[in-house]
Amino acid sequence: MSGHGTITVSSPHRTTTASFPARTSAAGFLPPGSPDPATTGPDPATTGPDPASTGPDPASRSAQIESELRRAPRSFRILTGDRPTGPLHLGHYFGTLQNRVRFQQLGADVLVLVADYQVITDRDAGPGLGADVLGLVADNLAAGLDPARATIFAHSQVSALNQLMLPFLSLLSVAEVGRNPTVKEEFSASGGGAMSALLFTYPVHQAADILACRANLVPVGKDQLPHVELTRTIARRFNQRYSPRCGFFQPPDPLLGAVPLLLGLDGQKMSKSRGNTIPLSATEDETARLIKGARTDRQRHISYEPAGRPEVANLVLLAAMCQRRPPAAVAAEIGSGGAARLKAVVTEAVNEHLRPIRARRRELAADRPYLQAVLRRGNDRAAVLAGDTLNSVRELMRMTY
Ligand code: TRP
Repeated sequence: MSGHGTITVSSPHRTTTASFPARTSAAGFLPPGSPDPATTGPDPATTGPDPASTGPDPASRSAQIESELRRAPRSFRILTGDRPTGPLHLGHYFGTLQNRVRFQQLGADVLVLVADYQVITDRDAGPGLGADVLGLVADNLAAGLDPARATIFAHSQVSALNQLMLPFLSLLSVAEVGRNPTVKEEFSASGGGAMSALLFTYPVHQAADILACRANLVPVGKDQLPHVELTRTIARRFNQRYSPRCGFFQPPDPLLGAVPLLLGLDGQKMSKSRGNTIPLSATEDETARLIKGARTDRQRHISYEPAGRPEVANLVLLAAMCQRRPPAAVAAEIGSGGAARLKAVVTEAVNEHLRPIRARRRELAADRPYLQAVLRRGNDRAAVLAGDTLNSVRELMRMTY
């Protein structure tokens, strides 16, 4: 396609050394003393207690990192990622995509992972996978990521990253992996053991994603905090065993989002599988139809009361985020206009806000070779980073013959 020009990626070898003090706490995110007969037991992989200290809670630590990001953005390498299981929706857009673009504008080194191996944790790779992968690339670019600065890659294409999972698995016990809350939930949901072994170990794979790239900051939702904590444990344990003097891996910090959480159109948790989302790629008519079907309540007067009226408040919040206005102001303006007026306002706000993004996405989606080129470029850079990491890891482990 004309218009995109050639892609040049700047400084593929940026060194990142965070200038903030690394937190050394290992505790904090694991469910406190919740013994599970299936997953507790001695930890053969543990050589001793991790050097634990009680650091600040994740929220105040995140506020501290936010100001550090503004002060010294170039000392951060940030990794975020999504599973390519379908088009991204408004929750992704406001929750993570906008943040990625903000980090990029600040000048941080932003890496975006298309987590294709995570897809097969709970399903087969289907014929639509390729389209979903390139769709994710399009979503990220349409939202404003600049392929000349950001690195978008897929982990199936970066062998060294995947190889790192082997030494990392050796540093953990089965009991420890089984205590990861997501793994634990999936384990019991599957009736105890029918889950795939890849799902069981996926937080370790995620640690390989993060440490292969030597990312020092990982923006996450609350549910992903334990994964970053596990990554920190792996980093510290690797250092203890194989790199006691120089501490090869820097344990990454999680960054909790400050954006208010959007609910789905039915008032439940927003998720693709519930079908309660507005895809970024939806047309204006589809968006209108989806919002028309959204749940409201019986009160005519529109107000912003997230606790008492979650469905109405969520629609108000959506319009407010699109218009960059306080939700209370949006609600006050609609007032006695009722649910019909509210839905008209939300539809207009969403379609208005997304218009340029959707136009760009349509353009991008029509240019598969371009999307492939962006991804290939990102894969190449990630391969350099992960290859360097793997080489050092082999040397530290004396696996050089
Ligand atoms: N588990 C993440 C999710 O489901 C995706 C992901 C995979 C990820 N690897 C990552 C996120 C590394 C951050 C860093 O959303």
